[in-house]
Amino acid sequence: MPLVGVLAALAWGATELVNRTARAWFEKDVSMRAALAVSGASDALVSHLAAGNRRRIGAVLSELARDDRIMAAAVCAPDLRTLARTGPLHPGQDCADVAVRLAGAPAGVEAFEHVEGGLVHLTVRPLEEDGKLLGWLVLVHDLSFVERREAAMLRFTAGAFAVVALLASFLTVAVRRLACRSWTRELRGLLAPGPVGPRRKPPKTFQPLLHDVRQLVSELAAEQGAGGRWSPERLRRVLTEHLQGEGIVILANREPYVHDRAPDGSVRVLHPASGLVTALEPVMRACSGTWVAHGSGSADHAVVDRKDRVRVPPGEDSYTLRRVWLSEEEERGYYYGFSNEGLWPLCHIAHARPVFRAQDFRHYQAVNRRFADAVLAEVDGPDPIVLVQDYHFALVPRMIRERLPRATVIAFWHIPWPHAESFGICPWGRELLEGLLGASVVGFHTQLHCNNFLESVDRHLEARIDRERQSIVVGGREALVRAYPISIEWPSRWVASAPPVQDCRREALEEFGLPPDGRIGLGVDRLDYTKGVEERLLAVERLLERFPHLVGRFTFVQLGAPSRTLIDRYRELNERLDALSARINARFGAGPSGRWRAVALLRAHHEPPAIFRMFRAADVCYVSSLHDGMNLVAKEFVAARDDERGVLVLSRFTGAARELTEALLVNPYDLEEASSALAAALVMPAEEQGARMRAMRAFVADLNVYRWAGRMLDDAARLRQKERLTTRLGPGPRAVQERLP
Ligand code: F6P
Repeated sequence: MPLVGVLAALAWGATELVNRTARAWFEKDVSMRAALAVSGASDALVSHLAAGNRRRIGAVLSELARDDRIMAAAVCAPDLRTLARTGPLHPGQDCADVAVRLAGAPAGVEAFEHVEGGLVHLTVRPLEEDGKLLGWLVLVHDLSFVERREAAMLRFTAGAFAVVALLASFLTVAVRRLACRSWTRELRGLLAPGPVGPRRKPPKTFQPLLHDVRQLVSELAAEQGAGGRWSPERLRRVLTEHLQGEGIVILANREPYVHDRAPDGSVRVLHPASGLVTALEPVMRACSGTWVAHGSGSADHAVVDRKDRVRVPPGEDSYTLRRVWLSEEEERGYYYGFSNEGLWPLCHIAHARPVFRAQDFRHYQAVNRRFADAVLAEVDGPDPIVLVQDYHFALVPRMIRERLPRATVIAFWHIPWPHAESFGICPWGRELLEGLLGASVVGFHTQLHCNNFLESVDRHLEARIDRERQSIVVGGREALVRAYPISIEWPSRWVASAPPVQDCRREALEEFGLPPDGRIGLGVDRLDYTKGVEERLLAVERLLERFPHLVGRFTFVQLGAPSRTLIDRYRELNERLDALSARINARFGAGPSGRWRAVALLRAHHEPPAIFRMFRAADVCYVSSLHDGMNLVAKEFVAARDDERGVLVLSRFTGAARELTEALLVNPYDLEEASSALAAALVMPAEEQGARMRAMRAFVADLNVYRWAGRMLDDAARLRQKERLTTRLGPGPRAVQERLP
């Protein structure tokens, strides 16, 4: 548009200039022609006037008027009577009217005028003999052709401008596209996951911009991916367009809504503290279908129908929750035992030794079978879409595949996948890998975990690994292995209903005995040893040691949901946290208010509205996981800060650290680094907080949980299509050749 504007201005300017110059030439030319005509005819006219021969005068005038440009000619007597004329003169040009013009101009008149037919040039000259006035010669020249030429010139320039503007626009767009395409290709090459080598090293000029560029690429990808930002509607579209609107079945150990019996006997609904639930619940609300889970609430039995189903969310009834009941013994062996004493420490680098008991694995197998049966009871046809979630159900994909060979099973592993060597210590590693490879797609948060998985398969199974396609072929079936970094719903429904930031802040400062200009640090976790809560409190202690002016002015609030407390390692963690927070609080006293504490360890289940109020009240949120697949608390904090304030201090050992690069990234084991980051966060200028928060919010908004689910479902849809085609077209020539004798 600016280019077209400039071209238009240039074209207009050029036309004006050419017209003015041409008109000046024409006028000069006509004046000269008039002067020539007058001087050529005046001798003859003077002699005829002297002789009083009107007929001869008329003949001279007719001769003059043979020139096309002369519209009319007349000779007037000194008293301005008309003696002769060639044709009618316009008003103002007749002999009688010329008097007025001659009043102040005894030597004659020359003028350009607009008359009915267009522009004319009027000349009135005296005819004299020996200084005696005998009459006046009036000549009218036609100049209407000047205006016609100007109009033609304007039309020509406008046409030329249109052609030039079109060409210029076309060329600009074409050049931009070409440039953009080569940039995008170059940047994609830089940013795409893949082996780091000399060719992938970003050139120096790109380094400071890397995050901006990554954001740009993600935006471009979103634009190009037909449909803009991912949303519940777009996810539903994927289901309708690519998967014929088929409902999905999710299998996850943790249920999205827990019905709990309150002390007064009433039933209340709780949202469990689980990253998996945070991510998947909005997806289920968008897609509908069925969520199969362990019914763990004290009032869960009371609210289900005869088929152990209940519609959720309460009051909205968007999808079905199918509950599976476990005996205490089953839960102990499958959940506490193999899943959380075996696989959990196996997959996390947190220096807890995994415990593998044969009895626990037997329970794990049996419970996996029970859940697989429950899923099979919930599906509609022979080729359902089933999303199997997490390390609790590694054996289920294969169990489903055995019964429904055409099912599309997507297995997602929400925690890290260990290095192949570490994985080797699991006595049932082979069974776990074979179980997972029953899936059509096996998903992890990061490429590193995908690589570890491929390496584990390579070492422990006989399978063909296609590293280029990122897939594994085992028993003639292909399973894709892909990274799908999980995220949260955007916008978050909890933010929409949260009070204003100022109110959250005022209430929190008051609650923790802080002055109005006090500062709040925040941690929100399931109380798990992998979350680094002890290291976090030690970093807070070091902060107050190094910066004593914060004593009485800064409180670290830890919201901790009790978790897996039947396991010794978790019980010990709780005891250690109690002792640690008590020691730190005793060391720094009660501050000027007498109510102040350095650390407020709030060990209880907190519902999302309370958590989001604290997110909005905090100056700094510290996520200090020692190892974490993703960590959605980091993303929820970012979602909560629509005021673009607050600082995220984030462990670099989380999956989230690969995405939220504007957080202050720390090694949580390094108390000097962690306390420095907390101190930096507390003095960070508002503009810097805003810039960092804006960038992280843009990233999470684009890469939200609908995109996570949409990409998996897209891949699943493509696989389904491929499998259907193969079934219809029969085996490829190679397979036929192999079967020949
Ligand atoms: O997000 C990691 C995760 O282990 C999930 O897999 C799990 O649902 C969640 O944390 C909470 O654990 P649990 O279900 O054992 O309470």
